Amino acid sequence: MIGKTHLKKLLTATLLILTLAFVEIGSTPQTALADTATKPATAAEVFSANCAGCHINGSNIIRRGKNLKQKALKKYKMDSIANIANLVTNGKNIMPSYKDRLSEQQIIDVAAYVLSQAETDWK
Ligand code: HEC
Repeated sequence: MIGKTHLKKLLTATLLILTLAFVEIGSTPQTALADTATKPATAAEVFSANCAGCHINGSNIIRRGKNLKQKALKKYKMDSIANIANLVTNGKNIMPSYKDRLSEQQIIDVAAYVLSQAETDWK
C-alpha cells in the first residue's frame, strides 16, 4: 500500500515537473530571438556598413567623378541594378569585390538602394 507521505512526495514531484514544463514554455522567447538573429540587414544598413566609407552621401572619396549621383551613374552606364550589382560583385580598380562578403540578394538590394537614393539626390 502506498503511504500518505509517499503520495505527497509523488504529488510534489509531479507538480514540480509540471511547473518546470510551464516555466519552460512560458519563458521561451526563442522564436522572437531567432527572428532578430536571422533578420537580414536592410539595404541601407548594408550600404552604411560596406559602401559609405568611400561613398558617403553618394559621393566617391577616391574617384570624385565616379560618384553615385544620377548624372554620373548615367554617364558611366551604372544606372541599372544589373550593372551596379555586377560592379559590386566583382569590384573595379580600387573598389573592392563583394562576392565573398555579401549575398547575391544583398548585392541586388544595395544596387536598388543606390538607384533609389540617386533619384532623390541622396537627400
Ligand atoms: C574602398 C572604397 C570603395 C568602397 C568601400 C566601395 N566603393 Fe564603389 N567605387 C569606388 C571607386 C574607386 C569607384 C570607381 C571605380 C572605377 O571605375 O575605377 C567606385 C564606383 C562605384 C560605382 C559606379 C559609380 C559611377 O559613377 O560610375 C557604384 C555604383 C559603386 N561604386 C557602388 C558601391 C557600392 C554599392 C558599394 C558597397 C557595396 C561600394 N561602391 C563600395 C570605391 C569604393
